[in-house]
Amino acid sequence: MSEVAKIIRARTKLAPKIALVLGSGLGGLVDAVEAPTVIDYADLPGFPAPSVSGHRGSLLVGRLSGTPVAVMAGRAHYYEHGKADVMRPALEALHAIGVGTLILTNAAGSLMPEAPPGSVMLIEDHLNLAGANPLIGEPTDRRFVGMTTAYDADLRAMATSAAKAEGIALPSGVYAWFSGPSFETPAEIRMARTLGADAVGMSTVPEVILARFLRMRVLAFSVITNMAAGITGAELSHEDTKEVAPQGGEKLARILTRLLGELR
Ligand code: HPA
Repeated sequence: MSEVAKIIRARTKLAPKIALVLGSGLGGLVDAVEAPTVIDYADLPGFPAPSVSGHRGSLLVGRLSGTPVAVMAGRAHYYEHGKADVMRPALEALHAIGVGTLILTNAAGSLMPEAPPGSVMLIEDHLNLAGANPLIGEPTDRRFVGMTTAYDADLRAMATSAAKAEGIALPSGVYAWFSGPSFETPAEIRMARTLGADAVGMSTVPEVILARFLRMRVLAFSVITNMAAGITGAELSHEDTKEVAPQGGEKLARILTRLLGELR
């Protein structure tokens, strides 16, 4: 087992099979975690030092609805240093302690009228418009990862039922990854719509590729913080992302709390 996996194991008796990555402004979800062991990323070699406001930098290991879970409160993004594989050591460590299911969350701009700011979208597939890939440089044949069923159909069906039971609308759509950190232009959003995008954001896709590389099952959600560039004419800002994210975050917390109770 890797050094970092040993450090996590030494700090908690829980052996979570599910991990959750929290996106921008979604830190409120950590409050739902029962009796967590909190480990600073600084104490976990290879875990990313978060540099984006609205992101914490700690790993929590506790229970959600009684189910053991590891929560990454804070992620690193490609746009921070141009490295698409920044999350690889952290995901490898989670894999090493026994995590087989990865639940990813992000803040995103919406291209779908039925997913307005404050709503949550279930990601059914993605477009890698950043053109980067976390597996570039991976020397083994394992780099040729199939992405046909990347977003696990059974987990998506469970998420849809959980949302329904909570009375929360959960439209499903395609997430397009732009590198950021500048927001998209209206022309880029028109292009993305033509290509089949329903939401746009600056994260998640590299983690999905890494998770599939590690043979983890993946479930992913976008919390919609704004309509994408050019749709309303309003300028976009990170301040707005941080301000609006908790609204959808509260809905997502309810969906996840119900779902985790069933994922034991
Ligand atoms: N574009 C990219 N990333 C985002 C957006 C957006 O409109 N909103 C929140 N994160």
